[in-house]
Amino acid sequence: MAAQRIAVVTGGNKGIGFGVMKELCAKFDGIVYLTARDEGRGRAAIEELKKLGPSARFHQLDIDNAESIATFADYIKKTYGGFDVLVNNAAIAYKTAATEPFGEQAENTVRVNFFGTLAVCRSLFPLLRPHARVSTVSSSAGHLLNINGDEPAASALRQKFSSPSLTEEELCDLMNQFVKKANDGSWKAAGWPNGSYVVSKVGVSALTRVQQRAFDADSRPDIVVNNCHPGYVDTDMSSHKGPLTIEEGAACVAYLALLPPNIKEPRGAYLWYDKQIVDWVNGPVPSFV
Ligand SMILES: NC(=O)c1ccc[n+]([C@@H]2O[C@H](COP(=O)([O-])OP(=O)(O)OC[C@H]3O[C@@H](n4cnc5c(N)ncnc54)[C@H](OP(=O)(O)O)[C@@H]3O)[C@@H](O)[C@H]2O)c1
Repeated sequence: MAAQRIAVVTGGNKGIGFGVMKELCAKFDGIVYLTARDEGRGRAAIEELKKLGPSARFHQLDIDNAESIATFADYIKKTYGGFDVLVNNAAIAYKTAATEPFGEQAENTVRVNFFGTLAVCRSLFPLLRPHARVSTVSSSAGHLLNINGDEPAASALRQKFSSPSLTEEELCDLMNQFVKKANDGSWKAAGWPNGSYVVSKVGVSALTRVQQRAFDADSRPDIVVNNCHPGYVDTDMSSHKGPLTIEEGAACVAYLALLPPNIKEPRGAYLWYDKQIVDWVNGPVPSFV
């Protein structure tokens, strides 16, 4: 008998993550785990999804908490032995009007969005089954050309991020360098942009490329990871200013989670919300939304 197929969505209790849950519950042939850092919010969202069908389950997962990640990975391993789809959706963003110092914003945003996502991947990737799909939610902010601080330092940074031999460790170093510069006030001169969210999302987009190279060399066949800009979506994060519905924002994310077996492309790619593959290194960047 074939193993029960399992999908996992991080930050699934609201916004785009909840939209992805709805689409996976309708289209994925298996159980879909809605994970959330807050058990109450997660279970309330599951009640909503149950109206649509029986495939959604809940498990607590805070991507910013090593113990929570380890507990969830252990649960998946012991209960199912492995799994098939991971949607890295959870993230935070400070509002433009936030008054916290830039260094503090940089530290928290990079820690959750980049290092949290990386920690989830490191714990869960060993459990991915052949033909697994990983869909990571980046942003228009995650395009490499947004690394646009002072030149020539910015070009040098872009070259490092886009190097075909970039390693996870080197990428972590780059993220830590940004946080350090954000704290000592020299980030712009060192080539970094003014947004910590931008840097965290460039980090996850660069990570996708590094991860696909590792999957290509993995003994498990046909594991594919991609990332996308979901569009400018009507959620709490956008203060409900985005014109797209959560269903529209979930479309490309869910498409990448459900890519059929042995697909030639996209693999390790950056996509726009309308599912077009965008050149992450050179652009052009499609118009915003
Ligand atoms: N909305 C947009 O226009 C837009 C544009 C580009 C990219 N994105 C990206 O799309 C994704 C979803 O954003 P959204 O707009 O749906 O935002 P949202 O409505 O603020 O939802 C974010 C989700 O992430 C969860 N989360 C935050 N920190 C977490 C942690 N440490 N562990 C687990 N879950 C955590 C939140 O949980 P709580 O409910 O507990 O806070 C919530 O479920 C993010 O990656 C975001 O960067 C959004």
